[in-house]
Formats: sequence, structure tokens, C-alpha cells
Amino acid sequence: MRSIRKKEHIENYLKTTFQGDTLLGDVFLEHNALPNLNLDEIDASSEFLGKKINYPILINAMTGGSSLTKEINRDLSILAKEFNVPMAVGSQTIVLEDEEEAKDSFRIVRDIIGQDGIVISNLSGQATVDQAKLAIDIVDADAIQIHLNTAQELVMEEGDRNFKGVIDNIEAIVNNIDKPVIVKEVGFGISKEVAERLYNIGVRYIDISGYGGTNFIEIENLRNHAFDYTELYSWGIPTAAALINCRKLPMDLKLISSGGIRNSLDVVKSIVLGAEVVGISGELLAYLVHGGYGNAMEYLSGLTHKIKILMLLMGKKNIEELRNSEYKITGRLKDLV
Ligand SMILES: Cc1cc2nc3c(=O)[nH]c(=O)nc-3n(C[C@H](O)[C@H](O)[C@H](O)COP(=O)(O)O)c2cc1C
Repeated sequence: MRSIRKKEHIENYLKTTFQGDTLLGDVFLEHNALPNLNLDEIDASSEFLGKKINYPILINAMTGGSSLTKEINRDLSILAKEFNVPMAVGSQTIVLEDEEEAKDSFRIVRDIIGQDGIVISNLSGQATVDQAKLAIDIVDADAIQIHLNTAQELVMEEGDRNFKGVIDNIEAIVNNIDKPVIVKEVGFGISKEVAERLYNIGVRYIDISGYGGTNFIEIENLRNHAFDYTELYSWGIPTAAALINCRKLPMDLKLISSGGIRNSLDVVKSIVLGAEVVGISGELLAYLVHGGYGNAMEYLSGLTHKIKILMLLMGKKNIEELRNSEYKITGRLKDLV
């Protein structure tokens, strides 16, 4: 059953040990020894999907569909409301085939966040237009994420094997729903070429969700006993490379950075590289599951405080100024962009 798989994803994520590299460490930001600023006046707010958010952070798609995942969604939405940041729910495919309980585990997110906050739906690239409309309705979503998870499906014993027609499917969704469509990966990255194809069918928001954090090949390998997929653990486009390469497209494409975002430096570097907002999944989930709501709250308090410290150390008083900062690329990242 799908709800058991969702539970296993969380349990297996917490068991994963392989550590990939986002290559954000190869991005160098210059220190400003003489910032003419007061920490109190640093403003990390911005606008996303037509609403004001306090920090350029997105609690990214993870879960929903059962009572356990309802509790996780409840805690994540309290955090999203507390920090006034957007939140995406996990894949809602489960509600298309399941009962009312599954719907409640998603509805709770909008109930807690309220109308001033941002809630984003989530379905796979195989979803129909009607399914997308239903998923949006359930949480009264501000936008819908469509996830591309080919690598995950292929390693999943019961996963999809046929990926033909996904782009036509996404085009139908873009053309027939009246909310923004965000196409995202789940940790293997979106290349410049794929981003351009998505732009050409009308997609204007892409979450590059790159390599270096949650590794769904490892997560599924822990569930799959037919083959050992360990040799594929290093597969994927590192987050920094995916972001820089997609940003090179001369188009009005809004990019979301995610995949291995763990700390304030990762967030700040992502904004400097051109992201609108920066998605965090696995790291926040680990804080929440290991130490409860208070622990996750402390993590986000520290993260948001340190984002402002870094902005001051760069002499940038708001997100707009931060986005227009210079940066240098070193090491292996230089070869990939
Ligand atoms: C337990 C877990 C469940 C996830 N479920 C979904 C999902 O249902 N839909 C989706 O688009 N992404 C899902 N993701 C992927 C994340 O949204 C994100 O793209 C990926 O984990 C990379 O970010 P991270 O390194 O910060 O975790 C999931 C991630 C985790 C850790």
C-alpha cells in the first residue's frame, strides 16, 4: 500500500548514510569587513507566488497520506506559519486512490497555515489534469509542484518503467489549470537542456532539486532486494551545478534551489546564484523526527538568524541586493558549469 511506502521512505531516509556533495562548497562569497549596516535593519523578506514571505526558504515536499504523516505535516505547517515561509506537501497521488483520512493529512496544512501563507500541492509527472485540479482543491493550493523522479522509480521494485509522454502530460497540466506549475526533481537535478524544454511548454518555475542531499537511489535500495544499486549512489547533477547552468538560460524562469540544503551558507549561496527561494526537506525532517517540534524550531531559528548575519557580512541589506552579489567558482564546480 502507498501509505506504507510513504512510511518506509521516512524511515529509510533516516537510515541513509551516503553523503553526496552539492558543490555549494565550491562557491566563494567575498567578506565585507566594512558593512555600513545594523543587524536590526537586515530584511530577509521577499515575495513568492504573489505573497510576502519572511525568509527565502521553502519547506519542500515530503509527505502526507496517513495518520503518522499527518502529524509530521502538522508540525511542518506550524513551522511554516511561525516563520511565514511557503510549504509544499508530499505527493498527493495517495488521495486519488485512497480514503478521507488521506485527504485530512493534507488539509491540515492549509488549515494551520491559513490564507495568508503559501501551500503548494504535489503530484507526479504522470498525473492527469483532473487529478491536478483535485490536488489543488484539497489544500486550496497557491501552486502545484509536478515531480520528476525517474531514478527513484527505476530503483523501486514496483516503480514505473515507461516515461514516454511525460512532457506532453505536463504541457496539458500547464495549459489547463490556472495556478503556477513548478516542475521539480527529487534530488538528481535538472539540467539546462531539460529546463529549456520545460520552458518551451510554458513552465515558468523550476525546482532544480539537485544531488548532494536526500538520495532516493539509496532510500529505494534499502527497500529493494532484487538488485544492489550501491554503485549508483553518486548519480546526479550537484545542486550548485544545476542551479548555475539553469540560470544561464536567457529566460524569465524562476528557479528554486534544493537538494542538500542544510545550513545558512547553503541558503545564501543559492540566492546569490539566482534562486527565488531555497527548499529544505531531509535536514528539517531529521531535526523533527529526532528531536521533536522544539528541535526543528531551534534549527530554523538558528538558520534564519544566520542568514541575516551572512547578509550583513556581505554588506547586503535585503534579498534583492543579495541576489545581485558577485561570486567566484572554484574546484570541481568550475568544470561542470
Ligand atoms: C522522506 C521524503 C519524502 C519525499 N517525498 C516527496 C514527494 O512526495 N514529492 C516530491 O516531489 N518530493 C519528495 N521528496 C523530495 C524532496 O522534496 C526534495 O526534492 C529532495 O529530498 C531533495 O532535498 P533535500 O536534500 O533537502 O532532502 C521527499 C524527500 C524526503 C526526504
